[in-house]
Amino acid sequence: MSAQRVRVKSASGMYSVSIGDKILPQGLQAHLPAKVPVAMLVDEGIAALPLTLAIFAWLEKRASRIIRVRIPAGERSKSVDEYGRVVRQLAGAGLTRDGWIVAVGGGVTGDLAGFVAATYLRGMPVIQIPTTVVAMVDSSVGGKTGIDLPEGKNLVGAFHPPKAVLADLRWLESLPIAEKRAGMAEVLKYGAIADSKLFGSLAKGPPRSMKKVVKRCVEIKAKLAGEDELDRKGKRALLNFGHTVAHGLEGVVGYEGLRHGEAVAIGMVVAAHLSVKARRFKKKAAEKLKAVIRAHGLPVTHPELRWDRLSPVMERDKKATTQGIRWVLLRKIGKADLVTGVTEKKIQLALEEVREGKLPKG
Ligand SMILES: NC(=O)c1ccc[n+]([C@@H]2O[C@H](COP(=O)([O-])OP(=O)(O)OC[C@H]3O[C@@H](n4cnc5c(N)ncnc54)[C@H](O)[C@@H]3O)[C@@H](O)[C@H]2O)c1
Ligand SMILES: [Zn+2]
Repeated sequence: MSAQRVRVKSASGMYSVSIGDKILPQGLQAHLPAKVPVAMLVDEGIAALPLTLAIFAWLEKRASRIIRVRIPAGERSKSVDEYGRVVRQLAGAGLTRDGWIVAVGGGVTGDLAGFVAATYLRGMPVIQIPTTVVAMVDSSVGGKTGIDLPEGKNLVGAFHPPKAVLADLRWLESLPIAEKRAGMAEVLKYGAIADSKLFGSLAKGPPRSMKKVVKRCVEIKAKLAGEDELDRKGKRALLNFGHTVAHGLEGVVGYEGLRHGEAVAIGMVVAAHLSVKARRFKKKAAEKLKAVIRAHGLPVTHPELRWDRLSPVMERDKKATTQGIRWVLLRKIGKADLVTGVTEKKIQLALEEVREGKLPKG
């Protein structure tokens, strides 16, 4: 089947996101020059998959040389230590300025490889090959790259748009169900903030085909990131719906305790309750949002939803400005705004309601 293509605007030029059932490895041809050195950074968890091996074999023919770097699976790889190990491996192998980086993996590999590409020899071109739902619909697009610190998530990073993104849906065949579900949390996020039709089409649970869904999410991301690449106009910030609490939870329970998407699912429920408290969003709509999240097998509550536990992390989060936390709140499904000045009391009440599985109160 033919590939779908979405064009993304960035300060360093346009790039395309190709989405299709069989686009790798041939799809690389249009983007990667012949006879350049290539560093292929691969998530270790998928290093032995046939598609990964096919990419490697293809690159072996195309590139002047290839350096293969394995990234251990899991959020822990988005660390200063792992970053150091990777750039040193590239330097040790003598990767030169004419080199290209090809990132094959989920958001962890993509964020780390993107940051390596942004900084090694002051910047190298990178092609993103996302292999999870999260990476296809979100992290591979928009140019944000980075790593975590023990003090918080994504605290070190750079804007470094890829030269191309190639999203081959066959990766999703091997993706564990829990990872798929976690990715659907980001998909539901797009529907909630920007596309009620997309949201409605997912109301009963996972879609039969992911192609249209991935394309629609990439279009939304491309629009918001294209209009506000550096995240300064409050447009791109809408993508953080559910993420304030999610990052707080991830900080408290550790990255191994919850998948990013699961934390986002819970965070969206809290944000919906808060939207009701701020008198912006109907109770019925908040209940609907929660029901849909649940229909996708995602969690809608967590025992650590407590202000005293989450606030130290949330306030340190990069979305916190001098005006306090910037919340993404809903007006209706498909329409979100950035809101500051939400009182601590309201946040506490929303956390409590969600923790105790109560209905939202205005
Ligand atoms: N840069 C951005 O704009 C942005 C946006 C959203 C999320 N992120 C980041 O993305 C990260 C989460 O990404 P993720 O959810 O993709 O997690 P991930 O990269 O950790 O991948 C999840 C798991 O799936 C495995 N896996 C990957 N592809 C597979 C496949 N095709 N088959 C079988 N197993 C596979 C991995 O080995 C890993 O164990 C977080 O660090 C988050 O901060 C970044
Ligand atoms: Zn996210």
